[in-house]
Amino acid sequence: MDRVGSNLGFRFMAFGYKFRDLFRPRMVILKEVEIKPRDHVLDYGCGPGSYISRLAELVGKDGKIYGLDIHPLAIQSVLRIASTKQLANVETICSDCKTGLPDNSLDAVLLYDVFHKLSEQDAVLEELHRVLKPNGVLSFCDHHMGEDEIVSKVTKSGLFRLSRKGKRTYSFLKETLSIINPSSPRSLQSQR
Ligand SMILES: C[S@@+](CC[C@H](N)C(=O)[O-])C[C@H]1O[C@@H](n2cnc3c(N)ncnc32)[C@H](O)[C@@H]1O
Repeated sequence: MDRVGSNLGFRFMAFGYKFRDLFRPRMVILKEVEIKPRDHVLDYGCGPGSYISRLAELVGKDGKIYGLDIHPLAIQSVLRIASTKQLANVETICSDCKTGLPDNSLDAVLLYDVFHKLSEQDAVLEELHRVLKPNGVLSFCDHHMGEDEIVSKVTKSGLFRLSRKGKRTYSFLKETLSIINPSSPRSLQSQR
């Protein structure tokens, strides 16, 4: 179970992100993810919501955006963005791991600059694997981690495989698992 950061720390980060987003618009990063109209997308560890309105533009009114964060100020910030921009297709989830979303329901998950903070990294990856559709994309970046660490930590469980390395993000695809011998703990095998 992760701890919620201080309100002061969150506000400081949100202030800094205003400048980050001015100098490097978030759409530049999202272009690497190939999000389509009608997609359902989860922004895991959404923070103040830098990606939310850009995501809403990409998925359109028939798509859906979920902003998840452990911090109540993040949830407030995303709700404020949704209300100001009249985005009816944005929902928030306050959580440190579980999403409460149905199995195989998402086209993409953003996991940006949060993975290094997670105390239960494998549990979060399992949850994201559960909610992604079979061809769903886990889009990953974390400026606190090097490439080798990112790729080994995300792929070691066999739940994801690296599909593309962009300039700023790594795209991982969900591996589909099939049970070939239920009596054996080694029975999970990926279908390629
Ligand atoms: C550095 S910010 C990144 C925000 C956003 N992803 C971005 O790149 O603009 C990390 C966010 O992850 C949240 N966070 C930390 N641990 C978390 C957890 N276990 N589950 C969900 N969110 C978490 C923090 O509250 C914070 O808002």
